[in-house]
Amino acid sequence: MAHTKKKIGLIGGGQIGGNLALLAVQKQLGDVVLYDIPVAEGLVKGKALDINQLSAVDGYDCRVTGTTDWKDVAGSDVVIITAGVPRKPGMSREDLLEVNLKIMKDVAGNIKQHCPNAFVINVANPLDAMVFALHKIAGLPKNMVVGMAGVLDTSRFKCFIAEALGCSIRDVEALVLGGHGDDMVPLVRHSTVGGVPLTQLIAKDKLDAIIDRTRKGGAELVNLYKTGSAYFAPASSSIAMAESYLLDRKRVLPAAALLEGQYGISGYFFGVPTQIGAGGVEKIIDVQLNDAEKAELNKSFESVKKTVGEVKL
Ligand code: LMR
Repeated sequence: MAHTKKKIGLIGGGQIGGNLALLAVQKQLGDVVLYDIPVAEGLVKGKALDINQLSAVDGYDCRVTGTTDWKDVAGSDVVIITAGVPRKPGMSREDLLEVNLKIMKDVAGNIKQHCPNAFVINVANPLDAMVFALHKIAGLPKNMVVGMAGVLDTSRFKCFIAEALGCSIRDVEALVLGGHGDDMVPLVRHSTVGGVPLTQLIAKDKLDAIIDRTRKGGAELVNLYKTGSAYFAPASSSIAMAESYLLDRKRVLPAAALLEGQYGISGYFFGVPTQIGAGGVEKIIDVQLNDAEKAELNKSFESVKKTVGEVKL
C-alpha cells in the first residue's frame, strides 16, 4: 500500500511553533516542517533535532525538519502560522496590526506559491484581521482557512468553570463566540456541567468574574510572562483543529471562519462554531441568540470590523 504520511508546515519557530511540532509528532499526525526566517535557523534546526531525538522514547516515526527555505514547506497538507510578534504587558492585540501584517503579507504570498492546497490555521494577532489578510493575499478557498482562537477562548472558559466548581473539565460544555478580543462572548446560557445549566451552579457575580477573566485570558498570561504571550494552550488548540481536518473527525470547534450571511455578517472572519473535517470548514453553525447575546456579539463584531478596516493590503 502506498505510504501517505501527511505533511504539516509550521510557520514560526518560536514557543508555539516548538510546542506544535512536539504535539504533531506525538499525535503522529504526520511529518513536520518547522520554518522560520534565516536569522532563526539555529532555533528551528535545534528544535527539530531535539524533538527527533525524543521520538525513540515514545516510538513514533514522524520526523521534524527545521528549515529557512519555503521549498521545504511546499505541498504541506496543513499549515499553521504562528509567525509574528507577541504583545507585551500594556499592549492590546490590535497594537500588533502593523508589524504582524508586514510578516503576514510575506507568509501569505509564500503559502499562495507553495501550499495552495493546504488547510491553513492562523494563530498570529490580531487574529481576526490577520486571517482576513491571509485569505485575501493567499487566495485560499474559504473553507480552507481559519483562525484558531475560538478553541483557545472556549478552553479557557471551560477551565475557569471547572476550577470554580471543583469538577472535572470533562463534564463542562461551553462556548465562546466572537472576535479574539476583550469583547468576545462567553455564552453562559448555552453552557452546562454534566447536563445541568451553568446558571444553576454558579452565582451571577462569580459567573461575571469568570467571563471577565476569560475575556482577558490572553492578557493575564502576557502579564505573567512579561516578554511574550501564551504558548501551550494556543498550540493544543491549533492541533485540535489540524487533527480534525487530517483525520476527518468532523469535530464541532469554534473557529474564526469566513461568514457569508450567518449571524447577519458577510465578508469577515469571526469566531463561530464550525464543523471541521476532510473538507476543511464543512459547516458553519448559526447559534440561536437572544437580544442581549446578539447585542454583545454585535459589539465584538464592531471591534473586529474596525481593526479589519485598518488592514491595508
Ligand atoms: C492569547 O489569547 O493568549 C493570544 O491571543 C496571545 C495574546 O496576546 O493574548
